[in-house]
Amino acid sequence: MEKNIVWQRALASRADRQKALRQRGAVLWLTGLSGSGKSTIATRVEKALIEGGRAAYLLDGDNLRHGLNGDLGFSPADRDENIRRIAEVAALFADAGMIVLVSAISPYRQTRSDARARVEKRAPFCEIYVKASVAACAARDPKGLYARAMRGEIAEFTGVSSPYEPPETPELTLDTERMSVDECVEAVLLAAQRLSIPYDALLRTAVSASLEAGRAIMEVYGRDFAVSYKADSSPLTEADTAADGLIAAALQRDFPGYALLSEERADDPARLGNPFCFIVDPLDGTKEFVKKNGEFTVNIALSYRGRSVMGVVYAPVLDELYFAAEGLGAFYCPAASKADDPIGTAEPIRVSDRHENLVMMLSRSHTDDETRALIEANRSRIAETRPAGSSLKGCLIARGAADLYYRNGPTMEWDTAAVQCVAEQAGAVFRQGDGSEMTYNRADSLNRKGFYIINAAQNQLRRL
Ligand code: ADX
Repeated sequence: MEKNIVWQRALASRADRQKALRQRGAVLWLTGLSGSGKSTIATRVEKALIEGGRAAYLLDGDNLRHGLNGDLGFSPADRDENIRRIAEVAALFADAGMIVLVSAISPYRQTRSDARARVEKRAPFCEIYVKASVAACAARDPKGLYARAMRGEIAEFTGVSSPYEPPETPELTLDTERMSVDECVEAVLLAAQRLSIPYDALLRTAVSASLEAGRAIMEVYGRDFAVSYKADSSPLTEADTAADGLIAAALQRDFPGYALLSEERADDPARLGNPFCFIVDPLDGTKEFVKKNGEFTVNIALSYRGRSVMGVVYAPVLDELYFAAEGLGAFYCPAASKADDPIGTAEPIRVSDRHENLVMMLSRSHTDDETRALIEANRSRIAETRPAGSSLKGCLIARGAADLYYRNGPTMEWDTAAVQCVAEQAGAVFRQGDGSEMTYNRADSLNRKGFYIINAAQNQLRRL
């Protein structure tokens, strides 16, 4: 049959919808036996999300069988069609920006994986296994269905006379024989919060703020400017202050609920209680700026519960833009200020796959004895060392142009937050000097342990 239909493109973009709703649509799919606790948990989560001001909606298998799926029974083919329809509706709701909870037995692995594929074309998908044994569900038997099924009064009853295939690698398992309802609800709420972070809208705001800050910085760069020195004797110019003002205004306008930590701003300790905190260095490499060698950057990151989940790095003189977000990958856009759509036209980047003849980045102003000793101890593996300023070192590793960077001395949260996300999303390993995870939005913003960025875990350098 010829279909004579074309896809009508929307004028409102995904980022527009996310900005309007201050969230990204997502599907949290609860699978499990009848009586396992899916609906109890899902209804509670839906209520909590709505009360928290989020747009959320529960698609419940039982309820949908009264309308949309009223023509379907419980044969394998009907269950497949049931799940296919629920997945399509969930995908549309998520595309519209809703946080969608699905509560359906969805007993077949293959059908759930098809549902995931349908949703993931438009929105993130999280499979949640609501786990309880048939014996436990039969003992609860809230609807009296197990008793009837066991007497043979209901054919093809899941867990009794029809199979249930548990997920092999669900994103989340809720063992309702061991966890309380409150614990299960909390776990799903956390997953919903993480999945609904509006990355498209965030990147749009952060990228345009970084370019705007870049223009302001270039205006100062092109003329004479005064340099003052802060208490820690680091330099400060008009460019730092101007860039900071522009970035803070844009972030606070579009994401008023998120906290902000900026190098050039009085710290508000209330940020520590906010799971979301922007971490900004409006001009990283002020020394390079003052020396006019072009190797300075604008850095904007978002930390979520201590992890850097979005990063934007823009180098105004080079006009190079790097950005990344969790689950979306890392991207590079040259000549960014001249691009009509720097986000849409940026290219995905990956670290190099080199394991020998490694290129090691060095700091322009901080190479110390420890770094020199590290190079000496690994002479045979390092083909070249290359100095560069600011967070550009990590960006070059993310793009595959270099492989290693070891920083022994202290830095600040805002020096590393954005580049960490860019590097990690490009496949790099980013760790503190002692191998531990770097966290963000801390009471003490000093990164005391140093850090390293490497293109692959196996390329870690040997210390003497
Ligand atoms: S699914 O298998 O197609 O995903 P769905 O979640 O929509 O099932 O519907 C399951 C609900 O239908 C159960 O909670 C139960 O109340 C009811 N039900 C009626 N007959 C059956 C059956 N044979 N097997 C499972 N559930 C059934």
